[in-house]
Parts: sequence; C-alpha cells; structure tokens
Amino acid sequence: MTLEDPQALLAAAQTVMARAYVPYSGFKVGAALLGADGSVYAGANVENASYSQTQCAEASAIGVMVAAGETRINAIAIVAEKVEHCPPCGGCRQRLSELAGSQTPVYLGRPGSPPLVTTLGELLPLAFGPEALDA
Ligand code: THU
Repeated sequence: MTLEDPQALLAAAQTVMARAYVPYSGFKVGAALLGADGSVYAGANVENASYSQTQCAEASAIGVMVAAGETRINAIAIVAEKVEHCPPCGGCRQRLSELAGSQTPVYLGRPGSPPLVTTLGELLPLAFGPEALDA
C-alpha cells in the first residue's frame, strides 16, 4: 500500500469498525495505520461498563501495530459508522503523535468517497513530544 492510496486504508478501518465493542454508546469507530513496513494495522473501540476505561479505536490500532513489531506510522485512516468524518479525540492525537510525524497524513471518511485529508500536525499543533523531556 502507498500513501497515495487512502481508499485501501479507509477500507481496512471500516472492516475492523464493524467489530467494535460499543454496548454503551453504540458509536463504532475503526482506525487503520499504515506502518513504515508497508503493512496495515487496524483496531476498533472497546468500551467498558466502567466508562472511563473505554479504549479508542486509534489506541487499539496502535496496540496491534506495536505488538507486530512496528513503531512508525506513515498514514492514518479513521472511519465511524454514524458520522461522515470522525476526527480523533485529543488523547488519541497525542497517542498517534508518539509514533507519527507532523506531516503524517490523516484520512477521515468512508471508503468510496473522497476523504477529508489533513495531517497530524494540523490536528495537534505544538505537540508535546520526547524532545521536551530532554530539556
Ligand atoms: N472514540 C474512538 O474510538 N476514537 C476517537 O478518537 C473518538 C471516540 C470512541 C470512544 C467511544 O467508544 C465512542 O467513540 C464514543 O465516544
């Protein structure tokens, strides 16, 4: 898969979105990450009766990717069942920023339609990163 192929990444996000565990919100989200190795890693949101323990789709996808041995993200796609464009929550912007760059493309939408294309830097300007810890 290439960076110019957001449709394949969106399709992977949509496939995993269908498996989201959302008994409380009913709001299914899927995220797919294109790793630097060219593989796609996807995850869905996982809710919990203790609501604050819910895991976002992006966090699930990051876990899948890191478990496979990849730690760099070259592109991100997010699909939600109930909204056309589902921007990542603030916490997930920070999570993604750990393993991606400010220029990393973020595709929001649904397969079959042109996505809203942005970058992680646009979504999380002035990101807090590891360089701050060296100060
Ligand atoms: N959710 C995600 O999976 N990713 C986001 O970036 C925004 C929110 C999930 C969490 C919860 O299961 C549902 O959407 C409603 O907030």
